[in-house]
Amino acid sequence: MKGPRCGAIHGTRNGTIGYRDRHRRTRGAIATAGATVLCACAGPQSALDPAGPAAETIAQTWWLMFWAAIAIWVLVLALLLYALLRGRDTRALARPQRLIVGGGLVLPTVVLAALLVYGTVHSSRVTGLGEEVDLVIEVTGRQWQWEFHYRDGDGAAAAISIDELALPRGRMVEFHVTSADVIHSFWIPRLGGKIDAIPGRVNRLRLRADRAAPMRGQCAEFCGLEHAHMVFAVRVLEEDAWDDWLRAHAVDRTASGAAP
Ligand code: CUA
Repeated sequence: MKGPRCGAIHGTRNGTIGYRDRHRRTRGAIATAGATVLCACAGPQSALDPAGPAAETIAQTWWLMFWAAIAIWVLVLALLLYALLRGRDTRALARPQRLIVGGGLVLPTVVLAALLVYGTVHSSRVTGLGEEVDLVIEVTGRQWQWEFHYRDGDGAAAAISIDELALPRGRMVEFHVTSADVIHSFWIPRLGGKIDAIPGRVNRLRLRADRAAPMRGQCAEFCGLEHAHMVFAVRVLEEDAWDDWLRAHAVDRTASGAAP
């Protein structure tokens, strides 16, 4: 398949853009849009490339909405084409109320109600409610970095990391998310939804990583000039590597005292 050609966009000798160039330009724009869509479906920060149950449910909902939107778009275009191609046949529809009631009231009500039911039924998979928690990690956002405190069974801080989050594969983690200054938003697109980090408040979010795939987290709330750089690497580790990692990042309790 030929990709878009960088040199395809240029004027003709008298400065106007010819039909061929316009055609190439359109093809280039379509190819670029297509590539963008495909790129968004994969990668370390793609919500459409899920690596855990919450993200998987969100991705499924997204695809359901996408295909439903395409079906409705095709329906609207078909109606538009019908209206345009009627030609001289300008007779009014026999019963226009039907179209208005069906397309304007019944269809949106059915579609939105179906989406509401689908979202409600699957919401517990997104929030992790009812799941047993294996590990608690406290997350503090500040301008402009993320700090992670890993709690042990007694609730004391066992390890600390900054701008790097390690997770044991296949274990449900409850994140206690807060902020030290302004509002940030904690988001690991491949694992699940985002949750705000608000000063003076602790928000909880449960996520599980089922695949040790490359992934990255991102602050999802504009929080100042360095907002876009407020990212953190996420490492999903197998049991042995996880224990090693905890030891390597252990809190020195003799030096600082056990963290509260
Ligand atoms: Cu922190 Cu945006």
